[in-house]
This record gives sequence, C-alpha cells and structure tokens, in this order.
Amino acid sequence: MSSTILGTGGYLPEEIRTNHDIARLVDTSDEWIRERTGIRERHIASPSENVSDLAYYASQEAILNANISASQIDLIIVASTTGEKVFPSTACLVQKKLGISGCPAFDINAACAGFNYALAIADNFIRGEQARTVLVVGAEIMSRLVNWHDRSTCILFGDGAGAVILQRSDKPGILSTHIHADGFGENKLYTTNPQCNAPALPTQSPYLVMQGNDVFKLAVKRLGDVIEETLLKNNIQQHEIDWLIPHQANIRIIQAMAKKLNLPLTKVILTIEYHGNTSSASVPLALNEAVKDGRIQRGQLLLLESFGAGFTWGSTLIRF
Ligand code: ACO
Repeated sequence: MSSTILGTGGYLPEEIRTNHDIARLVDTSDEWIRERTGIRERHIASPSENVSDLAYYASQEAILNANISASQIDLIIVASTTGEKVFPSTACLVQKKLGISGCPAFDINAACAGFNYALAIADNFIRGEQARTVLVVGAEIMSRLVNWHDRSTCILFGDGAGAVILQRSDKPGILSTHIHADGFGENKLYTTNPQCNAPALPTQSPYLVMQGNDVFKLAVKRLGDVIEETLLKNNIQQHEIDWLIPHQANIRIIQAMAKKLNLPLTKVILTIEYHGNTSSASVPLALNEAVKDGRIQRGQLLLLESFGAGFTWGSTLIRF
C-alpha cells in the first residue's frame, strides 16, 4: 500500500513584481539579484487575496486533475506560515471554500520545509489507514511578511500555492519521507507575531529577519545530508533519480544539490527565476508546473527537498 499522487494543482497571483520594480524601492539591481539568487521576478497577491484563497485555487486544480470530487477528501493538511487568521487554521478555511465538512483539517508550520513535512504526515495517515484521500497544500503570501525597505530579504520572496491529492493505492507512490528540525536555528531566520509576544519583553519587528549567509551554509549542509539519507534508505544510486524538485530559495543552493546528486540542471525543476521563494508553496508549485508541461511522467523517480526556518528540512522520494 502506498500514497499515490493522483493530481497536482497550482496558483500564482496575477501581479508580477520584477527586480527592476524592487530596484525602485531599495538600493539593489536586477543584475545583483539574478547573480546572487537566480530570481528575476515574483508574483504578488492582490490586496483582496488571502492565503486561504490561494490555497483554495490550487486545491481546486488538484481536485480537477485527480478526477475526484471534493467530498472524497478525508483529510486536509495545509503547510503555511502566512494564514490570514491565527485561528481557525487555513486548512479549515479551505475546507469551507471547498464546500465540505467533517473530515479533519489542520495546518502545519515548518516554514519553507512545510510541504515535505505535510507529505510525511499525510503518508503516515494513509499507511496507518486513518485516511484514504488527502489534500496536501503549500500556500504562502510571503510579500506581507517582508520589509520592502530591507534589500537583504525583500528581493527573495514571492506568493503562491501548490497542492496535491494523495490517495491510498496498490500502485507506486511515496517511497520514503525524511523530516528533521534544529530549534537552535531560531535566531537565524524568524518572524515574530508581535501581538502574541510577551509584552514585558522588548518590542519586536513584525517582519522577516534572516542572517542570509548562515542560512545559506546550513541549507547546503542539511539538504546534502538528507539527500544522502534518502538514497541510503532506499538503496538507490544518484543516477536513478529522474527529477530533483528542490525548494526554490537560491539558485546557488540548488546548483550545490544538483552537483551532490551528479545531476545536470536539465534534470532539476527550476521555477526560482519566475516565482522567487514562495516558502512552503515552492515545491508543489514546481511539481505542478513540470507535471503540467509533461516533463514529469508516470513511473519516474522524483526527489523533493526543502529547508527553512526552525531550522527545518526534509525530503520525499516518490515513484510518480
Ligand atoms: N542588492 C545589492 N546588494 C546587496 C543586497 C541587494 N539586494 N543584499 C545584500 N547586499 C550586499 C550586502 O550589504 C553586502 O554588502 P557588503 O559586502 O558591503 O557588506 C553584500 O551584498 C554581500 O551580502 P551577503 O548577505 O553576504 O550576500 P549573499 O551572497 O550571502 O546573498 C542571500 C544574500 C541572497 C540572502 C543569500 O545569503 C541567501 O540566499 N541565503 C539563503 C536564503 C534561504 O535559503 N532561506 C531559506 C528559506 S527561507 C524560509 O524558511 C522562510
């Protein structure tokens, strides 16, 4: 028994913010951003869109492509850190928008590694026969967490959502999931929720704070480790991977992972140039794009990986 991906979906808001647009806000340039990150532009949610809207649109597409009806879903997991409400969860809001009720629905917060975490949880629910058809979503509006006057962070992020429908099946599917965390990374990458922070302590900025250099080095190390762990666990060689679907944080981190796997960049699904870093949405958006354009075919071996605040990191090996 395994968890098979029946269908994928994605949603990107209409507005595109280019590096040239950002260079009008802060002291930076298109050339610097492209060279250091690989990013050219990113999508920005409209003033009337919330994360649950983005998640809902991506879910609708995944449901359509999976050829199921929403009422068949018996578990909803949304990976997000930018929900419009502290509670209810974004998953509950998506459930309502889909017009269904009764099945469990919850969010998980593992920052940019959220989608890999959510897949691991969903796979365990399916293997434990607690669920049969699961909607897994990664959705973020990162543009509302960044300070648009801080050039070291605002250049990196974008908005979007990706979703998959997983179903219990005797066909191939998720072969293994690997998730990790190290809370000692707390101060390297974080966003405070000022309303919930201890009022006696110094006032905190509500914006994303990142020690980019440290995060970069840790990401390369931890992602390298988890890729090795995945290959070992499944007793497979690097060349057996058909597609690497990495978290899209920085092209230089992705290049390091491709090198580790001895894979040419033509075997890596890249969306960073046009999406930027959409945090937990980046992996499912990349997956959806490559399924839709026909690069990813049934039967191929996919390696998904991501790294984010916490620190958190993880991978998923899938026979698609
Ligand atoms: N434009 C021009 N110059 C800039 C910019 C900018 N946008 N940003 C920084 N600089 C300058 C700095 O001030 C510094 O100048 P100095 O040498 O005069 O002091 C110089 O460029 C180098 O700065 P670094 O921070 O060392 O640049 P680096 O090459 O490390 O690139 C970056 C920064 C792109 C942020 C990189 O560190 C990175 O990608 N880090 C990882 C991000 C990541 O993976 N995040 C994880 C997921 S996010 C999540 O979980 C929510």
